[in-house]
Amino acid sequence: MNSDVKIVAGRSNPDFALKIARAMNRELSQVAIRNFSDGEIWVKYEENVRGVDLYIVQSTFAPSDNLMELLMLIDAAKRASARRITAVIPYFGYARQDRKDQPRVAITAKLVANLLVEAGANRVITMDLHTPQLQGFFDIPLDHLYASSVTVRTLQALGLTNVAVAAPDVGGVKQARAYAKMLGDADLVVVDKRRPKHNVAEVMNIIGDVDAKNVVIVDDLIDTGSTFVQCAEALKKQGANHIIGVITHPVFSGSAVQKIGASEALTKLYVTDTIPLREHNHKIEVMSVAGLFAEAINRTHDNQSISSLFDKSQG
Ligand code: R5P
Repeated sequence: MNSDVKIVAGRSNPDFALKIARAMNRELSQVAIRNFSDGEIWVKYEENVRGVDLYIVQSTFAPSDNLMELLMLIDAAKRASARRITAVIPYFGYARQDRKDQPRVAITAKLVANLLVEAGANRVITMDLHTPQLQGFFDIPLDHLYASSVTVRTLQALGLTNVAVAAPDVGGVKQARAYAKMLGDADLVVVDKRRPKHNVAEVMNIIGDVDAKNVVIVDDLIDTGSTFVQCAEALKKQGANHIIGVITHPVFSGSAVQKIGASEALTKLYVTDTIPLREHNHKIEVMSVAGLFAEAINRTHDNQSISSLFDKSQG
């Protein structure tokens, strides 16, 4: 592609966008984003984007203003004649509402996909979607990145032996299996979880042996922390030795950070910077995946393969 590359940041995670720009030896492009006194958003590109290969970086965690801001940045870029508009969405919010699991509910992940395309996005780059099948909700190209290419290196450096990788629910088995493979064919353990109501998780069974093992719990995200902490406690009761968590998106609502800090079972939790942390504690360590996004943007611009960035265990 001959057009120039520009990167702009929405307001949800500007530090992450800056890290991407730095890794690409570029500056962020100038955009003004303000709120009217009633809260409505207003956006304006402060420089020419005509004919540009434009990458708009915005994670869409709550509030929905983050999504709205992204849609408006796409719309403004389309009206300003950007040549190609890529929505770079490190954390894709609403992904958990991906099916009609009970009568009369919305499939909001599909709605968000429709909105992005309707606003004018030509491509999407995102990471560790709640379910990879969400890619099918888009009729435009979507590049799905895996945080594991960064996080596994950190886990390997810990030099853990006698390792089992645990999926905190059946939906997480594929991701856990990929981690187990990358950690030298570690054992796979599945936690059978039930949700009696929204945001409440109950561990029913543990499938697999964790006695005296160092267990790595892998998940796409932590929201209230209920799933993760209960899973760690249940594994500890079954005789697990050290328990280490690795998750991609630290949504961390309510008292999640306190729950993690207070969990005696959990030794350490690694998270990425797709969502900025509002709170922190000594157990939580952040690993940056901005360099991976920078590489994906460079490769997209140059029409090079992105899948070759990842271990074949993924995907
Ligand atoms: C569920 O399928 C997800 O992968 C997470 O395990 C879940 O959304 C975490 O939610 P919470 O932290 O509120 O238990």
